[in-house]
Amino acid sequence: TRVAIVFGGRSTEHAISCVSAGAILGALDPDQYEAVPVGITREGRWVLAGGDPSSFAIAGSTLPEITAASGNSVVLAADPTTTELIVRDPAEGVSELAGVDVVFPVLHGAYGEDGTIQGMLEMAGIPYVGANVFASAAAMDKEFTKKLAVAEGIPVGPYAVLRAGVSFADEDKERLGLPVFVKPSRAGSSHGITKVSDWADLDAAIATAREIDPKVLVEAAIVGREIECGVLEGEAGGAPESSLLAEIHVDEAADWYDFETKYLVGSRYTIPAGLPDEVTRQVREFALRTFTALDCAGLARVDFFVTADHQIYLNEINTMPGMTPTSMFPQMWAATGLEYPKVVDRLIRTAQR
Ligand code: DAL
Ligand code: MG
Repeated sequence: TRVAIVFGGRSTEHAISCVSAGAILGALDPDQYEAVPVGITREGRWVLAGGDPSSFAIAGSTLPEITAASGNSVVLAADPTTTELIVRDPAEGVSELAGVDVVFPVLHGAYGEDGTIQGMLEMAGIPYVGANVFASAAAMDKEFTKKLAVAEGIPVGPYAVLRAGVSFADEDKERLGLPVFVKPSRAGSSHGITKVSDWADLDAAIATAREIDPKVLVEAAIVGREIECGVLEGEAGGAPESSLLAEIHVDEAADWYDFETKYLVGSRYTIPAGLPDEVTRQVREFALRTFTALDCAGLARVDFFVTADHQIYLNEINTMPGMTPTSMFPQMWAATGLEYPKVVDRLIRTAQR
């Protein structure tokens, strides 16, 4: 089976995608799969990644990047009858690389986790890992994730949506209270998010979030524990399955689960999370219901807050969660009995519909 691992991309999560892809490349069983590593540069150029992309890692605070110098340009032929990747060599003209059986879009954020590449792959008739166009788009946008979750009876915290050009309404100050989190509606890895504890800092936080997305959410901070759950599509058409839960422990100095804490400093976590059985059961059920309500496929990581009195609130869902060696999704599945290479294998198998 030839698998194109597509990674990097134009989003703010470019580097994290490189690290996720590196780990996946390292975990693919070479007897079973032939990997074709295709990087997308920050500018959006597709290149056949040379070198050893499985060595992508975060070194101290240096983040990996795929650039145009990393390999030949590549185009994905949008031909449903051939579903082929073509290498465009500037000197030789066009030469065929190979048909790929499946694409693994290991892309986080815009132009990757948001339905755009999924739409392109649908047009080309190429099977791919993970959520379809609608689910990707709905899950990428925190406004629509909340709306669909609420329709499904899954609680979300109080929030306000500021569309492009709309400013924060003073009436919302009382409704939301302080502190609030100001977030780009479509982003990931905590990019563009600011915790605001004084209304005087709100405008600057909105401006920061708008650098990533003109639509911004202002969310009431839920005082509670940060709990995550992995979901995998069922095998052979069976029901989706949830992993053991993880609890993220953010130390006081970090204050919240920001980019540094996620990837550079690292955070402590507990798997399984030490919650009462009934709360655990409820969170896992909410995770599965969120996955189903959004029509997800393949995989997702669903993130919640659980308050001291065990109220559960959905925070967000990621349809291509981080797959770095330290990411929660693979850790939760390993603790549940599915090691990283088995997760990757299952994802590729369930993609081939
Ligand atoms: N958006 C990052 C990659 C995650 O959800 O893990
Ligand atoms: Mg996210």
